[in-house]
Amino acid sequence: MAKAQTYYQCENCGRKTPRYMGRCPACGEWNTLKEVIEEPPEPVKKRSGGSSNAGPTLRSTPMRLKDIPAKDDARWVVPVEEFSRVLGGGIVPGSVVLVGGDPGIGKTTLLTQIAAVVAESVGKVLYVSGEESVRQIKMRAERLQINSENLYLVTETNLEAILDHAQTVQPQLMIVDSIQTTYSDDKPSSAGTVSQIRECTARLQIFAKSSGTAVFLVGHVTKEGMIAGPRVLEHIVDTVLYLEGDSFQAYRLLRSVKNRFGATSEVGVFEMRDVGMAEVSNPSEAFLAERLVNAPGSGIVVTMEGTRPLLVEVQALASATAYPNPRRTANGVDSNRLQLVTAVLSRRVGMRLFDQDVFVNVIGGLTIDEPAADLAIAVAIASSVWDRPVPADLAIIGEIGLSGELRAVSQLSARLREASKLGFKRCLIPKTVRRGDPMPEGIKAIPCRRLMDALQFALPREAGAKDGKGQVDTVPDDGGG
Ligand code: TYD
Ligand code: MG
Repeated sequence: MAKAQTYYQCENCGRKTPRYMGRCPACGEWNTLKEVIEEPPEPVKKRSGGSSNAGPTLRSTPMRLKDIPAKDDARWVVPVEEFSRVLGGGIVPGSVVLVGGDPGIGKTTLLTQIAAVVAESVGKVLYVSGEESVRQIKMRAERLQINSENLYLVTETNLEAILDHAQTVQPQLMIVDSIQTTYSDDKPSSAGTVSQIRECTARLQIFAKSSGTAVFLVGHVTKEGMIAGPRVLEHIVDTVLYLEGDSFQAYRLLRSVKNRFGATSEVGVFEMRDVGMAEVSNPSEAFLAERLVNAPGSGIVVTMEGTRPLLVEVQALASATAYPNPRRTANGVDSNRLQLVTAVLSRRVGMRLFDQDVFVNVIGGLTIDEPAADLAIAVAIASSVWDRPVPADLAIIGEIGLSGELRAVSQLSARLREASKLGFKRCLIPKTVRRGDPMPEGIKAIPCRRLMDALQFALPREAGAKDGKGQVDTVPDDGGG
């Protein structure tokens, strides 16, 4: 139940602190802090049904589905399209959004920019930082060229004080950076512990629902753990976004992993520049920008990120190993998937890989976790082993089964359309196409039943080489027999 809030307020300057102090931290006067007990502004009803002794006024009433008004306009559209799309079209008032990511990946940068844009286009925004002083934020804002009338900043880690500030400012959007530095007086444990994180999030959730203020929570997530906090919140909040990317690369992906108000696994692509995060509205083009045409060991896959097809380059390098066990190194693809692909290449195609280290890398710091990239990985490896380039106008889509067969993938037509849009003329696809997948114009689909057929098409032997079932040996110059 909501409790009366206790805090200390300076009689001289009005500064509130959660704890008693001998000297006011704001004005420096001694013995001016006096205890204030404040009843909660309005009792918050946590649930309206369920418990048997709930008063009649709290009862919920079932409604006919068709009588419920669909409020489509109940979203604040943020004019940063990559961000809006990930949220499912805009910010839902009263929603709580967790934005997680590794430290230093750019969460504060992105949210400062979003805060400024929302302040311009929607209304007041309160940015609560527990990690940086207002002066530091100001410096960052200057670097990002942000100067908005409606943007309020405060450095605060105490939840009760944060809620107080929210009461005063009455923002449309409040950003709490970060949830790990926030603590409530109601819990004895220190900030960052699971019980504090859970308590603070639950209270902010109640605040958001009762006031209609949208709340963004920043959560630091370590690569290994995820346990360090935010994961325990995923079921409390409405939407969970992760900002990911290689911190050595400029691209950042904002991915929605849970969304009560839209499709999940939507992705927004940004680029970290020296003036903040810039939208990348044509990511396929950006990811292919540095591609070397006609270099062996490279294949272009069309992968789906949410509802959006993305063209990505997969690179492979096979080189004679110096170890008894050859290495399989995967960067940006699942290493189990790589093991599978190399095993199928050895057994079903007869490619000699037992004395080859195989490295696979996805360009742009991207991670592909769908099996539709299998064929592109296999083609890239074969291209490196045989030292023959994949034709520049060929895109590759397909999942590989253990028998060396190619399996159907989802949303084939959307993928082909994207490939065609970026100038690809041909695309290898699995022969078993899902029914109802129309083939778009402008790109020739090349259906293959087996991995072998796909390799023969993508990497034909040069004219003059002797024919036959060949194509299965490694290039002879690595000393092998
Ligand atoms: P930050 O947003 O502080 O990360 P997080 O809040 O997720 O911990 O971003 C920190 C990094 O971003 C830092 O290494 C500097 C870099 N950066 C830029 O490259 N350009 C910029 O405009 C800004 C503000 C930061
Ligand atoms: Mg930060």
